[in-house]
Amino acid sequence: MSVDWNERYTTGDTPWEKGEHHPGLPFLLAAHLGVVEKATRVLVPGCGFGYDADLIGELTSSEIFGLDIAEEAIRKARERSLRDKTTWGVGDLFDWKGKYDLVFEHTCFCAIPIDRRQDYVSVMASLIPLGGHLLGIFFLNPDHEGEEGPPFGITMEKLRDLFGSEFELVWSEPPAKTFSSREGEGRELCMLWQKKATDFVAHN
Ligand SMILES: C[S@@+](CC[C@H](N)C(=O)[O-])C[C@H]1O[C@@H](n2cnc3c(N)ncnc32)[C@H](O)[C@@H]1O
Repeated sequence: MSVDWNERYTTGDTPWEKGEHHPGLPFLLAAHLGVVEKATRVLVPGCGFGYDADLIGELTSSEIFGLDIAEEAIRKARERSLRDKTTWGVGDLFDWKGKYDLVFEHTCFCAIPIDRRQDYVSVMASLIPLGGHLLGIFFLNPDHEGEEGPPFGITMEKLRDLFGSEFELVWSEPPAKTFSSREGEGRELCMLWQKKATDFVAHN
């Protein structure tokens, strides 16, 4: 059954919403400051109320785009955020166009139905130019793999296989800090992926 994300926000059925950015995000951004500072355009898909997007914007002079399919989430992000350099947009990431040196992912991938995971990887590959990066705090919740979601669980191995077709894994580690509700080994993984040149067959 597909999720009506806007209704989840309008009825307040948003257990993922913590009223703050991910606690591990400052450490993650500090560890990869070179990548973050170099990016001129950053996309945060499934940004919700936009706390993560705001923190990235505070640490860089990059243009930040917060995107969400739920109108209510974006309405709240616009109302709440004090940053006038962030652009907030309502839209489906699967239809999104443009180029972003950096995409920041946090609990968007786990919200995507399992049969659209490959589409998620393909759309990221189309949005990120060669050499650009996808930085994410992936919610794995592997004990719930294959169970009804969202969130839809996934193992680290499956993540590597999926994204590895289009991206090179540069670095991965569990977050330095997390929400108390997500504590527990192997439930989240930070990953930095770099878009690689796709193989092609030369025809004479
Ligand atoms: C679990 S929530 C996480 C929100 C936010 N990242 C956070 O951590 O608070 C998943 C978010 O993805 C958004 N979303 C789901 N499918 C989407 C799609 N196809 N395009 C854009 N946003 C989507 C939902 O509206 C929701 O805000």
